[in-house]
Amino acid sequence: MRQTSQISKLTGLRAGFAVLSIFALISVSGKVFAADAAPMAAAPEAKAEVPGKPKVDPAAGEALYSNGDATRGVTACITCHGPKGQSAIGTWPKLSAQHAAYLTKQLKNFKEGTRANPIMMGMAATLTQQDMQNISAFLAKQPISQGVAQDKETIALGQSIYRGGIAAKGVPACAACHSPTGAGIPAQYPLLGGQWAEYNNAQLLAFREGVRTNSSQMTTIASKLSDKEMKAVADYIAGLH
Ligand code: HEC
Ligand code: HEC
Repeated sequence: MRQTSQISKLTGLRAGFAVLSIFALISVSGKVFAADAAPMAAAPEAKAEVPGKPKVDPAAGEALYSNGDATRGVTACITCHGPKGQSAIGTWPKLSAQHAAYLTKQLKNFKEGTRANPIMMGMAATLTQQDMQNISAFLAKQPISQGVAQDKETIALGQSIYRGGIAAKGVPACAACHSPTGAGIPAQYPLLGGQWAEYNNAQLLAFREGVRTNSSQMTTIASKLSDKEMKAVADYIAGLH
């Protein structure tokens, strides 16, 4: 008699815990998904996905990249970043052939604000994690876009920094992480080769000035570069392949 009542007490307790932990789970996942809840509800195909295990869909990424989605306030990325991610202007980065994981990280960083750019913060705010992965997978498969270095005067300086760093200032060779051809190393180190000099220079400045705070490695490196060194290496990278 006593035993049974103890057992029933115990099972009662267990049931209580189970209910509590279910509530805890719901509130946690509710928080995690809250930011994406509205856009996901608007996309009917999202319902078929297993929660937490989204399938990456480059075709959906291409559609969103090219057309945007007016119902969700997503601007067509192609407007600035160009067909296949090959932008026509140096202020808008080329995105073609960039590593998917790097692209997704940048979009997340814009959304969180660790990469503070007013234009892209607005763009990224409209994207779900699934959108980011889809667009990144599409872009990673596009052919690489090559460029040319413009300034003959600074090519030698740019090349020596890229290949050998600046020993006297403790600047490491860029090639060590971004590879000798500028192709980078997936997924950690982004492709740089062929990127617009203007954009490269702007990013080095953003790291140095603390506007882009999403990489302590690059902040340390950029803080050791003078304006002249930044310009030289940014221009050298544009012609690298
Ligand atoms: C109005 C022009 C404009 C539109 C539209 C736009 N972008 Fe951008 N994008 C920029 C600019 C400018 C930058 C550089 C930001 C900076 O300096 O940090 C950038 C940077 C990026 C980067 C970082 C690239 C790198 O090499 O680190 C990614 C990724 C990106 N955009 C993706 C997108 C996606 C995806 C969309 C569409 C949803 C989009 N952009 C729409 C202007 C635009
Ligand atoms: C220790 C490794 C390492 C070295 C050495 C290094 N980088 Fe980087 N670099 C990174 C990482 C990691 C990122 C990506 C940061 C992020 O996640 O946003 C990056 C990003 C960049 C970007 C931004 C790319 C984009 O598309 O926005 C530029 C430009 C850049 N590096 C230039 C350089 C230059 C120039 C040098 C040499 C002076 C250099 N890096 C040396 C690790 C390195």
